[in-house]
Amino acid sequence: MPSIPPIPSVVTLVYALVVAVVAYRWNWISQECPAETKSQHGGYLEYECAGKPHQSSWRSWWHPQHMLGGAHAGHIHGHGGKDWNILYHLGGNGPWVEKVVDVVDGGIAVPHGCKVEQVHMMSRHAERYPTIRVGRRMIKLLEKMKQSKIAFQGDLAFVKDWELFWSDDSLMEHLTSTGPFSGTLGSFTTGVRLRTRYHNLIPTARSSESKIRFWASDSDRVIDTARYFGAGFFGLDWQDTAQLHIVPETSDLGGDTLTPGDTCLKYVEDVEEGHDKGPAMMQKYRATYMPAIRQRLLEQNPKMEFSDDEIYAMQEMCGFETTVRGSSHWCPVFTQEDFLHFEYARDILHYYRAGPGTQYGALMGWLWLNATKNLMLEGPLAGPLFFSFVHDGDIAPMITALDIINDEEHLPISHIAASRKWRKSQVSPMGGRTIFEVISCGEKEGKHVRININDGITAIPDCDSGPGRSCPLADFARRVQRKGEEVGDFREKCGLSTDAPEKITFLHQ
Ligand SMILES: *[C@@H]1O[C@H](CO)[C@@H](O)[C@H](O)[C@H]1NC(C)=O
Repeated sequence: MPSIPPIPSVVTLVYALVVAVVAYRWNWISQECPAETKSQHGGYLEYECAGKPHQSSWRSWWHPQHMLGGAHAGHIHGHGGKDWNILYHLGGNGPWVEKVVDVVDGGIAVPHGCKVEQVHMMSRHAERYPTIRVGRRMIKLLEKMKQSKIAFQGDLAFVKDWELFWSDDSLMEHLTSTGPFSGTLGSFTTGVRLRTRYHNLIPTARSSESKIRFWASDSDRVIDTARYFGAGFFGLDWQDTAQLHIVPETSDLGGDTLTPGDTCLKYVEDVEEGHDKGPAMMQKYRATYMPAIRQRLLEQNPKMEFSDDEIYAMQEMCGFETTVRGSSHWCPVFTQEDFLHFEYARDILHYYRAGPGTQYGALMGWLWLNATKNLMLEGPLAGPLFFSFVHDGDIAPMITALDIINDEEHLPISHIAASRKWRKSQVSPMGGRTIFEVISCGEKEGKHVRININDGITAIPDCDSGPGRSCPLADFARRVQRKGEEVGDFREKCGLSTDAPEKITFLHQ
């Protein structure tokens, strides 16, 4: 078991919430709302208006290193434009955002005449610092720039006063804990949001003798996310009513895992078609848009040339710094077009690393989907609440097996596929979550499955005949079963022996 985080984090959280509420009230009184706040996209950073009470003025989140005391919205938005929201182009490195493309009209409210009966969630951990490998690239880049003693001009002039957004390397890989987009706040807020929607199910869940189980893969940031979530959903004494079950990320678990990318041996070892395919394809795509940026930066600062890796690290810092300090000076170094390329590069990475672009994607993701489908068929007696916390590398396979945002053709690496459905930024940002609701809509309509991806209801292609474009449960079950026949046997395809565990056994109340 990992260590228990110190109590003050809870105090900090409560304090942060109070600050947020006060800030929101203040803004509500003192600011006029633009008429077009209805637009789904704009909101996050531009204005705080009625109807979006979860937002607070980002000014209230002042961070000492929130650069140059700058209260310029433009710094957050990059080279702005009214409809541009940088948070939608960070490729999973940035704060949680709602899914807004390809969503069913009408919001998340349950369709008229229906009731939620069972809920299954697979969630990524909340906002975190860079992983060690990615963080080291940032450290190296900054050292190179600082040690050169070059007085950078133009878009990089700010570097003179800029410092890295962590000072203690032990923070890397862990949840961020400062600012409006902190992972601690994000995961707690998710708990409260889901409690708001599903509190009716809590008494049923509690009526069984044992505690309500929920699950996290064995990684500190994943476990911490689950615990903050638990505090928001069940209350501060969540351990009295719920039990967090930690599933090891070790390879010996075979098919009985939340993180099949660690147990599917061939996926790890197959350098052509396995895990490594993602970074390889991403680098190829990256090479198409980097030269123009390199040239631009070189014109501003002829004494230093940056590699693809270094420019990519700069783009990555835009998202990561935002989750620590609330904004980042790295964002406006790049144009909107640069970020469209970056966003797509990140889509390519995930598509070919653990999504439809690798033959192992659906195979790995089907394990959890099958177990979840079985619980749905078991019905309310199986229990109403199932919350699992994992990494984005585990969500991509599940989404692939679900076949809900798979494109008809593989994503090209020569240019941006503008109308693609596969969008990492909106499907698995930090804290990204996919929720399956089993809804019961009366005798005549029967039971249906509704998919909520980051609060955008998303219809399953070819299975959306139910209320709110939900999928009849029986059809859903058949669909999952068919997919299982298509992907084949996990142990065999992954090169595991026949005595390796075959399937998920821990997912039950
Ligand atoms: C999938 O579900 C079926 C029940 O419909 C079960 O018999 C089978 O063992 C499951 N397989 C895996 C790998 O989860």
